[in-house]
Amino acid sequence: MFPENRPRRLRANETMRRMIRETHVRANDLIYPIFIKEGNSLTEPIIAMPGQNRYSPDRLPALAKDIVSLGIPAVLLFGIPSRKDSYGTGAHKKDGVVQQGIRRIKDVAPDLMVITDVCLCEYTDHGHCGILDEKNEVMNDDTLEVLAQVALSHAKAGCDMVAPSDMMDGRVGIIRDALDEGGFEHLPIMSYAVKYASAFYGPFREAAGSTPAFGDRKSYQMDPANVREALREARADVEEGADIIMVKPALPYLDVIRVVADEFDEPLCAYQVSGEYAMIKAAAAQGWILEEACMLESITSIKRAGADMIITYFARELSRVLS
Ligand code: PBG
Repeated sequence: MFPENRPRRLRANETMRRMIRETHVRANDLIYPIFIKEGNSLTEPIIAMPGQNRYSPDRLPALAKDIVSLGIPAVLLFGIPSRKDSYGTGAHKKDGVVQQGIRRIKDVAPDLMVITDVCLCEYTDHGHCGILDEKNEVMNDDTLEVLAQVALSHAKAGCDMVAPSDMMDGRVGIIRDALDEGGFEHLPIMSYAVKYASAFYGPFREAAGSTPAFGDRKSYQMDPANVREALREARADVEEGADIIMVKPALPYLDVIRVVADEFDEPLCAYQVSGEYAMIKAAAAQGWILEEACMLESITSIKRAGADMIITYFARELSRVLS
């Protein structure tokens, strides 16, 4: 028998395709990462991330207004301090680079959601995400105290949400306690709950100058081979008080996004990381792929896998295309 079932009937034209489309990407789903560098009048291109820059705090008001005008609800801030030390003290200075950045943005864009990355690797001279012992191992519990100070200093500077990305055990609980004691019981935590030790962070480390001086991050970030471990990590963070959980990177981990989305009721964020962005940019620059179509397809896939929101360096370009 000739097929009775003809799936192509529902693909015949764009109107029909629009009607049966299951996944929609909106500017509302996007979070734009910003690198803030100590200094003045700086807009420094990041070589490995074409189209992305490091901005000094005074350059943020114009950028923030642009982001608001595009309908993007949130930004994620990373800091690049002028001085680093072995304890990452620059991360919790009252007038640190992120703390300045938060104030600059909130001054001109009070409704733009300002999320801050809470980690030490951009502030330590050794580039690790925590404090080291005499054998150069990252000490978990000593690092927690510092992370709590960092989160509290961001809260005091006026951020709307903190996002711990260090992967120390117990950090969500410690940060929750510190925020509550500091009078910030309403400030949500978006935890990088499921963060893999990924080679796709390469361009970010160039951007932030945070490549570890020795070793790697495998003793705290997750093994790319594991998925049940993702559930354990997510469960631990939710039990400690995470309001939103994250899977990172995104495209190589769509299966992980799916299982975490199925298992947890918490809103789920996915991070399309620097290497994912750089790959599309680089291939498109060669004329080997179509940039806009690949950007849209990758973000659609991440949403389809179950992410409610996506951190992406494409946020601004994508919002322009969507509108
Ligand atoms: C800080 C942090 C990193 C990224 C986000 N937060 C770097 C790392 O863990 O080495 C990577 C983001 C990206 O690649 O876009 N720990």
